[in-house]
Amino acid sequence: MTTGEHDSQVSQPNPFLTQYVPPRIDGSFTGKHIITVDQFARKDLQILFDAAASLRKRVHESDRGLVELCNSKVMASLFFEASTRTDLSFQAAMRRLGGKVISASNGVQFSSVYKGENLADTVRAAGCYADVLVLRHPQLGSSYEAAYYLDKLNQRIQNPTVIISGGDGIGEHPTQALLDMFTIYDKKKQFNHLTVTMVGDLRHGRTVHSLAKLLTHYAPEQVTVCLVSPRSLTTPREIVARLQASGISVFETSELQAVLGQSDVIYWTRVQEERFAADPQEYEAVKDDFIITPAVMRHAKPDAILMHPLPRKHEMGTRSDHDILDEDPRAVYFEQMENGMFIRMALLAKVLRGVYV
Ligand code: ASP
Ligand code: CP
Repeated sequence: MTTGEHDSQVSQPNPFLTQYVPPRIDGSFTGKHIITVDQFARKDLQILFDAAASLRKRVHESDRGLVELCNSKVMASLFFEASTRTDLSFQAAMRRLGGKVISASNGVQFSSVYKGENLADTVRAAGCYADVLVLRHPQLGSSYEAAYYLDKLNQRIQNPTVIISGGDGIGEHPTQALLDMFTIYDKKKQFNHLTVTMVGDLRHGRTVHSLAKLLTHYAPEQVTVCLVSPRSLTTPREIVARLQASGISVFETSELQAVLGQSDVIYWTRVQEERFAADPQEYEAVKDDFIITPAVMRHAKPDAILMHPLPRKHEMGTRSDHDILDEDPRAVYFEQMENGMFIRMALLAKVLRGVYV
């Protein structure tokens, strides 16, 4: 979904991507925008994972009750692109923390964006009413622009507002990568000698971009990253260079069988059809290149984990393939989804209150 001014501009990166420098977390989350995983050091990840694990325990023990850490707080949900998990899990996270959620009554496409209002004004309007905004937007770098204008607004209003990116075009999906890392840590307990294989549309897949960047923190544990994609959908060169510079061994291929049997983490992705609007034939040419089925999973390690950010389509075979894969104990995408709420609860509590949870 694109609207107003966004139609003509979403294909170009937002200039604020290179102009706005997001704050490092550096042990303190309070009042900080969350727009890229580059803000996190390894110690920040551990703080967040400990908080998410603690909140998960508290929610489970209270039979999915409330953990009232954000009672007086309001979150605004601004989704300019389709979402099920990110939108619902952020809303659920805020409500489970005792906070409130607001959004434009009929979705953002019927807000004043419909009249042609720009992103800077839309986020500042929401910032006047809410303590935290969650933004999903089709343009790469849009959350940087939102953060810049919120900083300006925060100098003018009584109660400052932070923004958390829920996915930034083909750039990053920081909270997805945080929940992915939390799930890997949860399942594998350590990163020592782990081979992480990412498969599919590595060019447009924002979840794999963020995940690859976070993995650079674990290079001393001798992590290996295998990047499997059609030749036209390889990982952006700067991300490959960062992985290599961190000391991670990187192996790029378009042959899944070359790496599947050695992989401890298999991270499958959807070819991002919506990013091929200018060349639908290009999508047709690559859409069936990598399909994970129960037969393919027979070649994976017995203790591997199969991850997927979801939504899934035919890259996980037919509906009956889905049903069989879902029963495979190695499939952890439902755990990823559930963990998404706990990571987002931890992030909201930390950013809004700085509380120890
Ligand atoms: N839901 C994820 C995203 O928004 C992955 C996907 O859509 O394929 O990036
Ligand atoms: N994984 C993810 O971001 O899902 P949605 O696009 O449904 O939010």
